Amino acid sequence: MNITFSKIAMPATGAVVLGVADGSRLNPTAAKLDKRAKGAITRAMKDANFTGKRDKTLTILVPAGTRLSRLVLLGLGDIKTLDNAGAERLGAIAYDAVAGDASAAIVLDGVGCGLAAYVAGGARLKSYRFTKYRTRDDKDSQPKLKALLVQCDSAADARKLYDGVAAIVDGIFLTRDLVTEPANFIYPESFVARAKDLTKDGVKVEALDEAAMTKLGMGSLLSVGQGSERESQMLVMRWNGAKDKNAAPLAIVGKGVCFDTGGISLKTPPGMWDMKWDMAGAGIVVGLMRALARRKAKVNIVGICGLVENMPDGKAMRPGDVVTSMSGQTIEVLNTDAEGRLVLADAMWYAQERFKPRAVIDLATLTGAIIMALAEHYAGLFSNNDELSDRLIAAGKSVGERLWRFPMGDEYDRDIKSPIADMKNIGGGKAGSITAAQFLQRFVKKDVPWAHLDIAGVVWSDKGTSLAAGGATGYGVRLLNRLVADYYEEA
Ligand code: BES
Ligand code: MN
Ligand code: ZN
Repeated sequence: MNITFSKIAMPATGAVVLGVADGSRLNPTAAKLDKRAKGAITRAMKDANFTGKRDKTLTILVPAGTRLSRLVLLGLGDIKTLDNAGAERLGAIAYDAVAGDASAAIVLDGVGCGLAAYVAGGARLKSYRFTKYRTRDDKDSQPKLKALLVQCDSAADARKLYDGVAAIVDGIFLTRDLVTEPANFIYPESFVARAKDLTKDGVKVEALDEAAMTKLGMGSLLSVGQGSERESQMLVMRWNGAKDKNAAPLAIVGKGVCFDTGGISLKTPPGMWDMKWDMAGAGIVVGLMRALARRKAKVNIVGICGLVENMPDGKAMRPGDVVTSMSGQTIEVLNTDAEGRLVLADAMWYAQERFKPRAVIDLATLTGAIIMALAEHYAGLFSNNDELSDRLIAAGKSVGERLWRFPMGDEYDRDIKSPIADMKNIGGGKAGSITAAQFLQRFVKKDVPWAHLDIAGVVWSDKGTSLAAGGATGYGVRLLNRLVADYYEEA
C-alpha cells in the first residue's frame, strides 16, 4: 500500500473517509459535500444515530453527481483528547472501512499533521497480511487498497513525521513475520539468518552456536535444545546510536523457543500449534532493533535472543535432571515444559557478563498462568526496580500496550527451593507467573535494574486487535520503542 500526504481534501474518485467530531460536527470538507448533496449526509447521520463518537463509522450512499466509490464517516470524538495511539486506531478503522476499494483518501481536517502521520501508520499496521503460503488467492477476503492519501495541511511535515512512524511499523511487520512463520521454517538457525538482514539497517549481528555456548557453560539453555535436531543459537544484535559508542547499553533479552512441545513433559495436542509463537519474545527484540535502527535512535542497545526448540527425543532432558547454568547455579528440572526460564537464565546472564548493561528487560511467552490472570488485555510486569517499572507502565499506557505489575518477594521465592540443587524450575502450582519471575530474578546480578514482561497473552490474537487483522499482534515493539524514546535516548 502506497501512502501519500496532501493538502488537497477531495479526490475525484475512489473511497473517502471524512472525519466527524463529537456532536455531529462535520469537518469543512464534509460540510461542503453535504451542502452539495442537499443535506443528504446530515440526514443519513440522523437516521443512523451517528454523532461522531470516537471510533464509530458510518458508510453512506455516495452523493449523486460524484464519481466516488464509497463515502465513510469516521467519528473522531473530542479532537482535543486525540493522542497518537488514538490517531493510530482511527487510521486502522478507516483502513478496514475502505480496504475493498483500490484507492482511498482519509480527510480528517482539523487534525494536525503529527496525528495524520499516526493515522497513516495505523492504517498501514492494519493492512498487514501473511500470505506467503497461500497458492490460491481468496479474492473476496483479500484487501484491494493500493493507494492511500491522508489529507493534511503540510504534506512535507506529515511525511517527515511519518518516516519515523514507518520505521516502527517496519519493525512490527518483521516481528509479525517471524512470529507467524511455522516452526518448520523458523528454527534457531533460520531465525538467525533472518535477523542477519538487520545488518542492512546498520545493526551488528552475530550468533553463538552450541560449541560456543558449551564453552561458556550455558548448560541451562543447552539442556532445552538437547532433544532437538535443530542446533540452538544465541543471537546478539547491537545498535550503537549514542554519541558515546562505549556507553553502557540497554539490554533486551527475548525468549526464542521456536517450538515448545513441552519436551518429555509433553503438552496435550489441543492448541499445541500455538507453540510456534513461543519465540515471540525474540521476534519482538528483532523487530525493535529494526525500528530503532531505521529511525536512527540515539541510544546504545543490545538485543539478545536465546533460540532453541523444545522436543521430546532419546537425547532429550528428563524430569529430575540437574543442569548447571552459566552463572554457576544449578537447577533441578522437574518439568521440561517450564523451559523458557531455563533459556532466559543463560541469555540474561550472558547479557550482563558481556555488556554490563544499564538495565535488562526480558520478554517471554513464559506462563499460561499470566493468560488466566490478565487475558489479552495486559502483559504481566515483574521487576526489582520501581523506576524502571513506572517507565514501562507509562510507555505502555501511551502506546496502548498495557502492563500490569505483579508483586515479588521471598515468600514466593521459597517455592522454588530444591532438595537437590540450588533451585527447581517450577513452583508448587500457585502464582505460577510470579514463581517463574522469581526464578529469573536469581539470574539478575546485584544492582542491575531488571524487568520481566510475561507476554503469553498479548502477542497472538486469533480474532485480531484494533491494529492487527488477526494472528501475530506485534505487541511490544511500540512499547519498547516508546520507552527508549522517552527515557533512554539522547536529545
Ligand atoms: N510457552 C509456555 C507458556 C505459554 C502457554 C505461552 C500458552 C503461550 C500460551 C511455557 O513454556 C510453558 O509451557 N509454561 C508452563 C509452565 C509450567 C509447566 C510451570 C505453563 O504455563 O503451563
Ligand atoms: Mn513450555
Ligand atoms: Zn514455552
